Amino acid sequence: MLIRRCHSPVSHRSLTVVIIVITVFLLTLLAKKEHSKGTRQYELPFGLGIAISAQDGFHSVKSCPSDLDYLRRKEYGLTRNVVFRKRCFRGVYSNESSPRESVADVDRPLLGSRADILDLDDECNSVSSSSSLDQARSCDPITFPISAPYPMANFSNVIFGVATTLSRLQDSVPQISHWMSGTGALFLAIVVDESVTDDSLTSLESLYDSHDINLTAIRPWNCSFNVNEQHFAIIRDLHDYSSQETQWAAIIDDDTFFPSPYSITQLLASHDPSLPTYIGGLSESQGAVDYFGVMAYGGAGVFMSMPLIRQLDSHVDECLAASLTREGDGLLSGCIYNHTQTQLTVVPGLYQLDMRGDLSGFYESGVFPLSLHHWKSWHQAPVDKMAKIADFCGECFLQRWRFNGDTILANGYSISIYEGGIAKPDLDLIEGTWEAAREYESTMGKMRDRVDDGKKKSYRLIDAEEVDGSLRQVFLRHGSSDLDKDGELEAMDEVVELWWEWPQDDEY
Ligand SMILES: *[C@@H]1O[C@H](CO)[C@@H](O)[C@H](O)[C@H]1NC(C)=O
Ligand SMILES: *[C@@H]1O[C@H](CO)[C@@H](O)[C@H](O)[C@H]1NC(C)=O
Ligand SMILES: *[C@@H]1O[C@H](CO)[C@@H](O)[C@H](O)[C@H]1NC(C)=O
Ligand SMILES: *[C@@H]1O[C@H](CO)[C@@H](O)[C@H](O)[C@H]1NC(C)=O
Ligand SMILES: *[C@@H]1O[C@H](CO)[C@@H](O)[C@H](O)[C@H]1NC(C)=O
Repeated sequence: MLIRRCHSPVSHRSLTVVIIVITVFLLTLLAKKEHSKGTRQYELPFGLGIAISAQDGFHSVKSCPSDLDYLRRKEYGLTRNVVFRKRCFRGVYSNESSPRESVADVDRPLLGSRADILDLDDECNSVSSSSSLDQARSCDPITFPISAPYPMANFSNVIFGVATTLSRLQDSVPQISHWMSGTGALFLAIVVDESVTDDSLTSLESLYDSHDINLTAIRPWNCSFNVNEQHFAIIRDLHDYSSQETQWAAIIDDDTFFPSPYSITQLLASHDPSLPTYIGGLSESQGAVDYFGVMAYGGAGVFMSMPLIRQLDSHVDECLAASLTREGDGLLSGCIYNHTQTQLTVVPGLYQLDMRGDLSGFYESGVFPLSLHHWKSWHQAPVDKMAKIADFCGECFLQRWRFNGDTILANGYSISIYEGGIAKPDLDLIEGTWEAAREYESTMGKMRDRVDDGKKKSYRLIDAEEVDGSLRQVFLRHGSSDLDKDGELEAMDEVVELWWEWPQDDEY
């Protein structure tokens, strides 16, 4: 095969990189110290067991018992003292678990009144005199009927294509791995960096291979195209790199995320791959649809059957030359509409997420998304950690339960306590939390007003991790103020740990 090369690699720039790394490190240090108004602190590196914080200066640190030591992870950036609650669930797989769309009631409080204040620098000892560390860790599990896990997704009939930079492909491993690892999918990436070495492409492939993903990393066939155009030009490569088994080609963005890959295989299985087929989702923004047209918006994921890819293959040059639109998804739809008889099949649940700001109202609406997008740009959401729960209980991701009438668990996303409770009819409406949310009612459905911060207390998921077959979800609410032991006002982070135990294989 022809070796493609866009530009010869420039001389290496390690010195620049070193300077940047040092600068970033120093800035981080400063930022952390700046942040340390409460007791937020910065543990010194080199394993000296010493930390520095504005309030306590230099002090020694002692790690916590193994089941709590995760609280000290630097990436969480917690205050030295945290308000800690742990609650446990014992999942019971049941086909009589409540239907996905309704909000089931649980006749118990989720958080309860007991909370412990732990000192993360002092073995997580409980600062509150009335309780002990053992009490804080103890757990009386709530038995919870929940849906069984989905079967493993099999994507051996799909080739996925993306066009992006080397570094973004390196950064995206945790998210892509969530839905692609071990599925047998082919993954084709056009690496658009002007100068990328063969070694970099090979080591990118090895990186993905170590996550059980069959990646082929290539250079563009025409380097003059910008990255948007590459998202259309990739049609030719998807055609060339598909295998005998390939029935579907999907074009994704580097921030397209599928929480539940099995539901994508079900979607594809409901269509005939021997017919030319074009499947995707519209933008939620009516303005965007009016302006850009009815097409499969790229970030939500675009799925095409191989017969359609074969029809398009010979028109790629022509469409690139003719099109006024230079967006990849617009080029694609224009080319399909101009040169084939195929119309778009719109699938609700494939989300482009063309909304900005706080998307909690969307994530807390009970939606079961097939895809998510813009989660590290227009809004921020740790989607791979959020969707970890989907590995254990199929359609339970973002499913909601109401505890004691006032606390809503949106599984994998948040725990919210509504002052005075929240009624079922309100839960049927999307809370319009993001910018100009009401303008989205025509496409997303009826909304309710954003709830004032004072009337709704929320904990957001920051992490989820499998531990010996169980799942630990970590929810955080930053800095509520409280009096510390010297009577000074102190901002303390609040952490809720949800610990899920699952039936063993022979129990269901
Ligand atoms: C419940 O699920 C089990 C295991 O998936 C299945 O064998 C059984 O037929 C289901 N029962 C009903 C009533 O759907
Ligand atoms: C996936 O499906 C293909 C085609 O049906 C089959 O050959 C393959 O064994 C399946 N892979 C797994 C892991 O089940
Ligand atoms: C990856 O896919 C290619 C193309 O189908 C195939 O030749 C190769 O054997 C696959 N590699 C692995 C490790 O499965
Ligand atoms: C690459 O694209 C440019 C600009 O669209 C075009 O002028 C050129 O002919 C193309 N080259 C090839 C080899 O297709
Ligand atoms: C499709 O045809 C329309 C009308 O002739 C033209 O404006 C547009 O650029 C064409 N798009 C593509 C991708 O060929």
